[in-house]
Amino acid sequence: MPGEIQNRTQVYLDNAATTPLCAAAQAAMEPYLVGTFGNASSPYAVSRNARAAVDRARGQVAALIGAQPDEIVFTSGGTESDNWALLGTALANWERRGHILVSAVEHHAILEPAETLRDLGFEVESIGVDENGQVAPEAIEHLLRPNTILVSVMAVNNEVGVCQPVAEIGALLRERGITFHTDAVQAAGKLSVSVNELNVDLLSLSAHKFQGPKGVGALFIRRGVKMRAWQRGGAQERGRRAGTENVPGIVGMGVAAEIAHRNLSQNQTYLNSLRERLEQGLKSLPGACINGSSAPRAPHITNVSLAGQRAESLALNLDLMGFAVGTGSACASGALEPSHVLTAMGRSQSAARASLRVSLGVQNTVSDIDNFLDAVKQVLQRN
Ligand SMILES: Cc1ncc(COP(=O)(O)O)c(C=O)c1O
Repeated sequence: MPGEIQNRTQVYLDNAATTPLCAAAQAAMEPYLVGTFGNASSPYAVSRNARAAVDRARGQVAALIGAQPDEIVFTSGGTESDNWALLGTALANWERRGHILVSAVEHHAILEPAETLRDLGFEVESIGVDENGQVAPEAIEHLLRPNTILVSVMAVNNEVGVCQPVAEIGALLRERGITFHTDAVQAAGKLSVSVNELNVDLLSLSAHKFQGPKGVGALFIRRGVKMRAWQRGGAQERGRRAGTENVPGIVGMGVAAEIAHRNLSQNQTYLNSLRERLEQGLKSLPGACINGSSAPRAPHITNVSLAGQRAESLALNLDLMGFAVGTGSACASGALEPSHVLTAMGRSQSAARASLRVSLGVQNTVSDIDNFLDAVKQVLQRN
């Protein structure tokens, strides 16, 4: 068909970028795209049904992270949740401005609004990481100031999969009454996430990372936490986030959250076994180094540097052979910048430029892994 984009990808190994929508979420969304199209904030029957579906989804998302339903606010995704956590806390502390700490390995959805807050007069400081990409709670304790208002440290890093000691950091911040945010976009559905065990006040989620739809997410806001609305307008989400609710998206997120929660331990075991096989194969390649492998990691992400290679060329060749993987480089102003995560971990520019991110999903199979390893070997032999 003219104009049709062919999907040449046979084996999708970039599940940290996004995941395929699960069939149950798709089926649950469909009635809210057509029949039950009502505005969830209107008073008549078609809308009351939409409102009931949103409330059901709020409970499903809350259950995934051990929160109360009224602590969940739906957003347009992880980026909005992260931006809001920073900007909303800053607004709530506007008079005193104050000091904000964010880890050096955060997603740009945290780093960029942190820069905005610096421009607006907040004292923004970066928390360094060790060679495995981990933040030390003692390092945070050392950096705290009497005017620290907010700390943001992600639960699982999206490039290397490394887990941060969120519960320990949360405990030390709670004693001092400092607001603590974690970006759990890569953790939810992959690891057990409990807002109470993690001692967090704010937590970001994104549905499309756990087989829900794109363009919908949530921010957990603990009851009583000082936080201002950022997106203003109507009184949706109890005045905390204005805008007509994305009912089909929210319904899909709820179902995906319920399934991810139910299948958590079986998925963890499966993804761990796939990753073990993948890493055994990668380690046998010349000059291979798995980044962050000495730290605890989520089961779905492997980041490998292949000495002397250029990641973008490897990824391009693998794409031609039918494999989708990510690289550790980001296209900034037309140039490929080495990953800020790998450079913060002390990896050289060349090692950072030689890194591939392979991220697994529950739809991947053992033969996907074996075929991928064969393809990498072929590409390396040609180079
Ligand atoms: C750790 C992390 N935070 C935030 C985001 C942004 O989420 P979204 O794509 O829903 O805006 C991503 C997406 O890659 C991510 O991996």
